[in-house]
Amino acid sequence: MSTPENSQELHLHVDPTEKAWIRAAIAVLVVFAVAVTIAGFMLGIQVPTEEQRVDPQTLQDSLPWSEPGVRTIVEGEKYDVFVVAKRFFYEPSTVEVPVGAEVTFYVTSTDVQHGFKIQDTNVNFMAIPGEVSKLTTSFDEPGSYPYICTEYCGLGHAVMFGTVVVTP
Ligand code: CUA
Repeated sequence: MSTPENSQELHLHVDPTEKAWIRAAIAVLVVFAVAVTIAGFMLGIQVPTEEQRVDPQTLQDSLPWSEPGVRTIVEGEKYDVFVVAKRFFYEPSTVEVPVGAEVTFYVTSTDVQHGFKIQDTNVNFMAIPGEVSKLTTSFDEPGSYPYICTEYCGLGHAVMFGTVVVTP
């Protein structure tokens, strides 16, 4: 960064060392701004959003929550997955989606606060009674991706998990 010799600079007597630090501080801010932009738009990092409010008491009386699981929106391309977290398991315990497809997870709880983290992905949020959390992801490699509870929810917390099976 070079500043042209102008009248403004003649009036401002800033120590060269201080000038260098000001430039360094501005450079760091620019780096952070670029990093946040890349994270948000290119790496697809999203903040989990509260999709809707539900009544945990009557949640499973009607669709889609009476039959949690995978819904095909576009075959091979787009899927919705409804997951109910309960002490101490998930409904369903296995989710099967094809590799590369856009998969949107809708997760809620019927009892206490649970977590929902899919290993090896950036999907990680809370499952809260009365609220539906939503996050979209896709799986680049076939295989098994466990989803685990990350909020302490009781004695069975450590055994609370399920599996996303990603098919080729
Ligand atoms: Cu559910 Cu910890």
